[in-house]
Amino acid sequence: MTHRLTAQNGAPISDDQNSLTAGARGPVALQDWHLIEKLAHFNRERIPERVVHAKGSGAYGTFTVTNDLSQYTIADHFQQVGKQTEVVVRFSTVGGEAGSADAERDPRGFAVRFYTKNGNHDVVGNNTPVFFLRDGIKFPDFIHTQKRNPATNLKDPQAMWDFWSLNPEALHQVTILMSDRGIPASYRHMNGYGSHTFSMWNNNGERFWVKFHFKTQQGIQNLSNEQADKLKGIDPDHAQRDLYGSIQDGDSPRWTLYLQIMPELDAEKYDINPFDLTKVWPHKDYPLIEAGVLELNRNAENYFNEIEQAAFAPSNLVPGVGASPDKMLQARLFAYADAQRYRIGANYNQLPVNCPHASQANHYQRAGAFAGTACPYHGDSKESGVNYGPNTQGGPEQSAQYAEPPLRLSGDLDRYDRFAEENFAQAGDLYRLMDESQQQALADTIAATLSQVTVEVQQRMLAQFAEADAGYAERVQQAIAKRS
Ligand code: NDP
Ligand code: HEM
Repeated sequence: MTHRLTAQNGAPISDDQNSLTAGARGPVALQDWHLIEKLAHFNRERIPERVVHAKGSGAYGTFTVTNDLSQYTIADHFQQVGKQTEVVVRFSTVGGEAGSADAERDPRGFAVRFYTKNGNHDVVGNNTPVFFLRDGIKFPDFIHTQKRNPATNLKDPQAMWDFWSLNPEALHQVTILMSDRGIPASYRHMNGYGSHTFSMWNNNGERFWVKFHFKTQQGIQNLSNEQADKLKGIDPDHAQRDLYGSIQDGDSPRWTLYLQIMPELDAEKYDINPFDLTKVWPHKDYPLIEAGVLELNRNAENYFNEIEQAAFAPSNLVPGVGASPDKMLQARLFAYADAQRYRIGANYNQLPVNCPHASQANHYQRAGAFAGTACPYHGDSKESGVNYGPNTQGGPEQSAQYAEPPLRLSGDLDRYDRFAEENFAQAGDLYRLMDESQQQALADTIAATLSQVTVEVQQRMLAQFAEADAGYAERVQQAIAKRS
């Protein structure tokens, strides 16, 4: 049965094809409120795109435990082999606008939400185990260099390399970005990493520091610069098409989740600062421990409602998974929910994709724009009940058993020099891990944009490459020379 077409107030519309006009040749009458409603709503179809990671693709699926981790965490979704938890995942590029091409050389976002029985747990990571920075205070500066120049409105290699040359902590991530893994063939053919160190605690109140690694079961596949350049013209949405199509065809992509786990006190004696986001924990020090399998098997029914309005946040933590002292993570704990209140609205967590699916939200927060939307997974939003706590009226109560064990901190409140950390060893390890053809491709890719910038910036970068590995600097220098 076809439904009758109505206006937003439910009134049937007699004619949706012709405006109300005085005579066949116009003009239009202001009393055509249906026309006005239609145009006015159309003007409001857009919300601000994400300030970073604006272009993305997502889907739902499941996480299945293959190894019980209850000795490390009370988190419900990591207990009992075979347990399944619903997930939603969004992949993205970082620097481009919502309409930009999927095949850009750029890190890929890899944001996973577990809808657990104790609330939504988000791991908002990238396809790289490290990041360009170790202090969130640098993030806006860095992103400005990845976006358009304010005068020319063009992407700006000079700004990009100028920034990297003055921020040597970026070299490890720059090396990954410029390597053959810098342009994944699709979202299905790349790994994902939580990147930061997180906290986990068990029933005995013991804390562990952990890192998340989602390893693709489809195999790593990448695009060369030439392949990517062609694809950007032929199909700028190739990664969206690939993900949506493979799920629609029943070919569900999967990743195995591994954790690296460090007992709390190891952090004090480990020679690598475990809370420095520019560093990995070498596998030989902290081997990968399997946790489960992430599978994506259901496309969203409405991209805007479920993927564009998805609001992932590192602050979406649950009992058994907490933050760490990582300075970047601390900044991110603020930034995401703040961005989402602006981008979507104060009650963004009431939307179906964002409200908890397997837990019920019961709190004393009230009102705000669009308050009163009931989470479809639980019906009644309980907004009419008692709105303060504690109370004697049977309102929701806190659950002391979920408290995170206390964390002992020391040190003077100060601004510590972020250059005091080591910057180059792991970039060198990665360079030496590559075979000769990968090293050459890395140098050629770097030279393609580094050759366009001032000699002063080139020199500073060459000095950084040399700190990582003398061969790295030589190859880049030669690749630049070939282009001049
Ligand atoms: P291992 O030899 O144990 O591991 C090397 C890792 O490097 C593997 O995870 C591999 O991923 C990954 N890798 C290979 N080529 C690239 C590339 N071009 N870009 C990004 N990652 C790549 O060594 P270590 O643990 O001692 O680490 C050595 C270096 O490997 C590090 O400095 C870091 O750059 C890189 N790395 C380390 C990771 C870690 O958590 N320890 C994670 C990812 C990278 P795969 O197994 O999927 O092929
Ligand atoms: C998106 C800020 C570092 C991964 C975003 C958004 C903001 C932001 C404001 C948009 C959120 C939204 O509107 O929904 C920051 C700040 C950082 C930082 C301030 C540093 C202090 C990182 C790091 C990673 C990362 C280190 C990965 C390890 C992502 C991802 C998204 C995102 C994957 C997109 C999530 C989605 O798909 O909706 N970031 N970011 N960011 N960020 Fe960050």
